[in-house]
Order: sequence, then C-alpha cells, then structure tokens
Amino acid sequence: MLEVKNISKSFGDFKAIDKLSFEVKIGDVMGFLGPNGAGKTTSMRVITQFLKPDSGSVHINKINIADDSIGSKSLIGYLPEGVPLYQDFSAYLYLKYVAEVRGLENIEENVNNVLTDLQLQEIKNVPIETLSKGYKRRVGLAQALIHDPKILILDEPTDGLDPLQKFEVRKLIKNLSKKKAIIISTHILDEVPEVCNKCLVINNGKKIFEGSPAELKKRKGKNLDEVFRELIVPSKKKTKSSPTKSKKIKSKNLNKVLRKSPK
Ligand SMILES: Nc1ncnc2c1ncn2[C@@H]1O[C@H](COP(=O)(O)OP(=O)(O)OP(=O)(O)O)[C@@H](O)[C@H]1O
Ligand SMILES: [Mg+2]
Repeated sequence: MLEVKNISKSFGDFKAIDKLSFEVKIGDVMGFLGPNGAGKTTSMRVITQFLKPDSGSVHINKINIADDSIGSKSLIGYLPEGVPLYQDFSAYLYLKYVAEVRGLENIEENVNNVLTDLQLQEIKNVPIETLSKGYKRRVGLAQALIHDPKILILDEPTDGLDPLQKFEVRKLIKNLSKKKAIIISTHILDEVPEVCNKCLVINNGKKIFEGSPAELKKRKGKNLDEVFRELIVPSKKKTKSSPTKSKKIKSKNLNKVLRKSPK
C-alpha cells in the first residue's frame, strides 16, 4: 500500500533523514520510534507532501505520490504534531471547512458522522481554543479521518493525554486498523505492543530496527524502555562506568578517609 523508498532530507548541512525505507499495508499499525530529533516528524511531512525529499520516493499503490499529488493526498489522513487547529473556530465549523477544502460531497453527513465517531457532538459548537487537550486532539483526529483515508499518519496522537483519553485513542486506532494502514509516532513505548503489529526505530534519520514489537522486546533489556536505550546509546553504555562501580570506588575512598580520620 505505502512504500517509502530510500528517502533523504537535509536542512542546510544537516541530514534529518538518511536513506529511509519501509512499507505499511492495510491492517498494519506501525509504531514509529526514535529519540527527539530522530527525524520522525520530518519523515511524516515527506509522506504527507508538506516537504519534498532530496532523494528517494514515496509510492501509494505503486503510484509515485510526486506524479499524483492530489490523488495521493485524498488517500492520506494526517494528524500533525501538536495539532495546529484554527482556535477560534468551533469543531463543527472547522470540520466543515476541512470537508469543503477536500472537496467532499455530503459535507453535512460526513461532518456529523465524524463528530459522532469521535464523541464530539456535545462540544461541537464550542470554540476550539477553550477545549481541553483531549478534545483538541480528538478534533485533530476527526479532520484526519473526515475523508475516510486508507492511510493514517498520526504524529504522537496520545501525547499529553490523561490515561482515560489515551485508552480511548488507542481503542479508536485499533478499531480503525482493520481497514487502514496506520503509522503512529510515539514516545510511550508501552503503547507499541498494545496497538502496533510492527515497529520501526530510527536514530539520526537512519533506520536502526525494523520488526514486530515482540522481536523488539526480545533484544537485550528487560523492558521496552531498556531495549530502546540499548538501541540508541549502545556506545555510551559501554564507555561509561556503571553506577555500582563508581559507588564502590567512592565507598572505598570513604573507608580510606574514615580510616585516616583522627579518632
Ligand atoms: N524546517 C526545519 N529546518 C531546519 N531543521 C529542521 C526543520 N525541521 C526539522 N529540523 C531538524 O531535523 C531534525 C529532525 O526533526 P524531527 O522533528 O523530524 O524529529 P522527531 O523525531 O520528530 O523529534 P521529536 O520526537 O522531538 O518530535 C531535528 O534536528 C530538527 O531540529
Ligand atoms: Mg516529532
């Protein structure tokens, strides 16, 4: 369905993505992981055509998105990082506007469906700026879903949400996954085995792991946070002395000090 082939993107001399390739199919939920600044958002912006790659290509159903920009945009729903919304619009007006810009038919019906699906009916006439973070995120998800896209790109969809809202968003993603190809970036590693069937870890714009959450967990480390640290900072770990060792040295010194101290 979606094939990302060897994409690279630099900002000046800085290479934000470096020959990145991966694939997602209908039914896949791919967890897109990596430390801050790894290049996740930049990759998502390339796939959604907000940025042009310096090299490489993105194909949807074997068609290069550069050859069918409008057609491919209609197949993708995108929830950007931080959800930039028109704050003085109500959810209803904002979604109506998005539906119009997308050239959808049956605008009223589409807006109402998505308001119901995301449990937004109650607040549909409230200005977005006065909504809670959870509601704002749901309005962002609603605009990503309004045209029923086959591919969903969600940049940190559960960031900053309370546990209940996180649960609701994950449930929604699981329900949607049967009919869509979904990519979600997240820093919440526990989320990955819960909602994803595959994951991709990048660092400095390069792929450093691709596989299932179970395969990721099988690597060194007791939990996903440890595995993640092992992947990202293996060299630092080898060179640093362990805290236990430094503690021992300290206590040795302290004993010496104590021994030498006058009674
Ligand atoms: N428009 C831009 N101009 C210059 N540098 C940029 C631009 N956009 C991103 N970068 C740089 O590219 C790198 C990758 O950024 P990106 O936002 O893709 O990371 P990320 O993996 O999404 O990080 P985070 O987890 O913090 O969201 C960073 O060093 C960032 O500063
Ligand atoms: Mg980001």
